[in-house]
Amino acid sequence: MKKSALLLALLICVLTGRSQETKGLAPLIQNVYGRDHQVLNGYWHYLIDPLETGYWDYRHKPMADGFFKDKKVDNVKEFKEYDFDSAPVMPIPGDWNTQNSELFNYEGTLWFKHTFNFEPSDKRVFLYFGAANYDAKVFVNGKMAGEHEGGYTPFNFDVTKLLQKGENFVIVKVDDKRRADGVPTNNFDWFNYGGITRDVMLVELPALYIQDYTIQLKKGSGSLITCSIKLNETQAQQKVTLEIPELKIKREVVTNDKGEAQFEFKSNLVLWSPENPKLYAVTLSTLTDKVVDQIGFRTIETRGNEILLNGKPIFLKGISVHEEAAFRNGRIFSAEEDRTLLTWAKELGCNFVRLAHYPHNEQMVREAEKMGIMVWSEIPVYWTIHWEDPNVYANALNQLSEMITRDKNRANLIVWSIANETPQGDSRDAFLSKLATYARSKDSTRLISMAMERSDKSATTLSVRDNMSKYVDIISFNEYVGWYDGANEKIDRVKWEIDYNKPIIISEFGGEGVFGNHGDVTTRWTENYQADLYTKMLKMIDERMPKVSGITPWVLKDFRSSRRLLPNVQDGFNRKGVVSDKGQKKMAFYVLQKWYLQK
Ligand code: GCU
Repeated sequence: MKKSALLLALLICVLTGRSQETKGLAPLIQNVYGRDHQVLNGYWHYLIDPLETGYWDYRHKPMADGFFKDKKVDNVKEFKEYDFDSAPVMPIPGDWNTQNSELFNYEGTLWFKHTFNFEPSDKRVFLYFGAANYDAKVFVNGKMAGEHEGGYTPFNFDVTKLLQKGENFVIVKVDDKRRADGVPTNNFDWFNYGGITRDVMLVELPALYIQDYTIQLKKGSGSLITCSIKLNETQAQQKVTLEIPELKIKREVVTNDKGEAQFEFKSNLVLWSPENPKLYAVTLSTLTDKVVDQIGFRTIETRGNEILLNGKPIFLKGISVHEEAAFRNGRIFSAEEDRTLLTWAKELGCNFVRLAHYPHNEQMVREAEKMGIMVWSEIPVYWTIHWEDPNVYANALNQLSEMITRDKNRANLIVWSIANETPQGDSRDAFLSKLATYARSKDSTRLISMAMERSDKSATTLSVRDNMSKYVDIISFNEYVGWYDGANEKIDRVKWEIDYNKPIIISEFGGEGVFGNHGDVTTRWTENYQADLYTKMLKMIDERMPKVSGITPWVLKDFRSSRRLLPNVQDGFNRKGVVSDKGQKKMAFYVLQKWYLQK
């Protein structure tokens, strides 16, 4: 298909793809943790429904009185063949796979039910989910609130009119079946943890509230703070006050006829940096609403092959991270478990983490911000996406929008990544170039990248040549010389020709080593082989890749993947971690740590 036809197809898709409004989604509320909220986490009843009996009738038509009604009947007189209140419970948030052994490899639908008390007021009430993997249909008191596709970004519904005084119930249908036309597709190298995997809360806001805001340094300035604020209604002349007490700043503006306000002002502030992750308490208020946040200020730019943080060249000493808890190896949902992984990264000597391959929980970014760790955040446009399907594009676009909206006020977040290891081609380029353009339109200050693949000039003259290079700020690529491409000795024989006047990040390299398995450096699956691969790779970078501005080796911790089957070696884990799934640091950890400490 010609490029112009492709672009037209994509344009049609954006217009015809299932809009978020048709899914009942309300615009994402900025910084829900800084609002009045009632946490609904706890023990929720659940029903395992592999045939989705609770949603489709026997002719596979959606039922009007499915499980989501939770009908109360006299069982002996009336027909009903499900019941939540006598069903088992599991703690929410949390993936179902690691909380119930019979569900470990289950992929399909679970229904969840939670009952809660509510006292109505004049406030608007939103039901917020940090994430649910993969497809969530949400019902309140038997009526549909809305639905969301995508397993790693937040979503919220306006449930004001669905709630009642006293007891209420929410029922959620979560289906984590992998889909060829999903984002990601049905083929990916991480474990498909299903369920309500992050916080659930009721967020109460006044009728007129601050829906969204962006507070950051103006691009290229180290002292000009720019703010944009958006109310939920297009109400003009609403006074908005911004206060940063520590800087003795108080600014009052009024909204325009779109209910928005943009303003900027100079300030003599301490910039956020890994060495000094300075955050300021910021309060935004209107006559009826108030939201508090912790905001850092910094600049991030590129200059030729250099990445500049606050105007100074910086080498990104990174590591790639999956959102999988240390030790218990389930999906992470708590700041405490985030901090365990981030502490290992700090011990490595990292100032940067690549949160692969999907947006991690909000606290992971916020904890990293407090710890002085910069972040690369990525949407799961991974491998063989259906590039020409309008709904797939709408889904990817929505996940990108939700990722940026949620984290755009985090100073440590410096890279938005739109893809990982996608096969080059016209339809992929059309799809991704639109995503890159959209990301830049949402946030002109951060750097756009994606993990590309090599396009070598010969078996030992390696290169990266990708049409997407003109759409990204940083050329990032994954390479596995010494693991998938030859053995370690090959690393010493290759040379690189990468001809871009942009910063270059090696977004993945590595090899598998089983903790405690020792042998000589030519024996695969040993710690020695993995450590030797790192030694050779880092030497190659030092001696033959002067333009590299950062690396995020693959990967911090061994992680579960259903692709990794080698008995007594992988046993369902990808063993490229520099730390084992039991938290044991391997020899490669210390090779990388030593290199970072001298960097
Ligand atoms: C790929 C991919 C990762 C995967 C890794 C591996 O580069 O990006 O998601 O886990 O290689 O094969 O270990």
